[in-house]
Amino acid sequence: MSEPLKSYIARVASLVDDVIMKEVAVGHQGLRDAALHYVRAGGKRLRPAIVFLVGEGLGCANEAALSYAAASVEILHTYTLIHDDIMDRDTVRRGVPTVHVVWGEPMAILAGDLLYAYSLHTLLKCVELGLDVERVYRMAKELTRAAIALAEGQAMDMDFEKRSAVSLSEYMAMIERKTAALFEACGAIGAIAAGADQKATERIKLAMRYAGLAFQIVDDILGITVDTEKLGKPRYSDIREGKKTLPIIIAVERSEPSEAEELLRILNSDSKTEESIEKAIRIIENCGAVDECRKIAREYASKAIDVIESIEFANEGRKELLKELINFIVNRGY
Ligand code: IPE
Ligand code: IPE
Ligand code: MG
Ligand code: MG
Repeated sequence: MSEPLKSYIARVASLVDDVIMKEVAVGHQGLRDAALHYVRAGGKRLRPAIVFLVGEGLGCANEAALSYAAASVEILHTYTLIHDDIMDRDTVRRGVPTVHVVWGEPMAILAGDLLYAYSLHTLLKCVELGLDVERVYRMAKELTRAAIALAEGQAMDMDFEKRSAVSLSEYMAMIERKTAALFEACGAIGAIAAGADQKATERIKLAMRYAGLAFQIVDDILGITVDTEKLGKPRYSDIREGKKTLPIIIAVERSEPSEAEELLRILNSDSKTEESIEKAIRIIENCGAVDECRKIAREYASKAIDVIESIEFANEGRKELLKELINFIVNRGY
């Protein structure tokens, strides 16, 4: 990542973290600590960066309102991470023990619920910070639409664990909801804050949907290629849980029938061992599935960049950084 993008994201992260720390101020200390656990642990802050790059790029000069809008998406994201870690039975996130491991599942569920309420609460404060009520209404619609899609995507993700095989189009429909919908909302929220017209807003949403699809495909790749320490979350968790990720779907398509059968047998088995997981990884790697996934992710990223190219930005510098952010999404190692 270039220094300008690094320092831009650092600026956004600092503004957004200040808002989150100030706003998530529930009196119960245990609940507050559980809710803020991942915020304190770090994270890439890519979603708030998108709100800012699009917002400033299209001409919004209200930094305070953008900070609140960007904080609201990061708060929503944090809620989904807490609940996702319960669903996926993961014990590490952002390099720290997961919320349910430290505080127990009941408190983790509540911390997630609390953050969901705070995400909307924080967004609504944009009115007090000078944004037009009608714009904030449209931003709230985008945020809640993404939250609805996300829940549906997570339900599909869990259904697929129990299915023996899943098609590419089913997988794409699932990640469009669980991941791309929030990226799309980030673009929409930035564009609406800037007062962009309907056409530009729709273009931004399309670009960010493509970026979100690329993002999730890369997340699937990293989950099998990068170690837990670098990732900050457990490597092979997807295999352990029987997730039908893109590398799996492609490996089943490309491998010899006997290998494909073995891969699915391991994935769908309740008694996985270290050896069987290693075997599954070998099958995935030997047939070139990981490279094929990278190729597909790059195609989506390049579609996102093409769409961005077609949009007129008030601030060209921000447009360049947004394109670089999309390249980072596909080239990242964490
Ligand atoms: C993790 O998102 C959840 C997915 C949608 C794959 P990130 O990889 O953006 O997580 P943080 O915010 O950087 O921890
Ligand atoms: C991503 O879920 C979407 C969310 C709602 C968090 P994953 O289960 O694929 O993401 P990670 O790998 O745990 O971050
Ligand atoms: Mg997960
Ligand atoms: Mg999950």
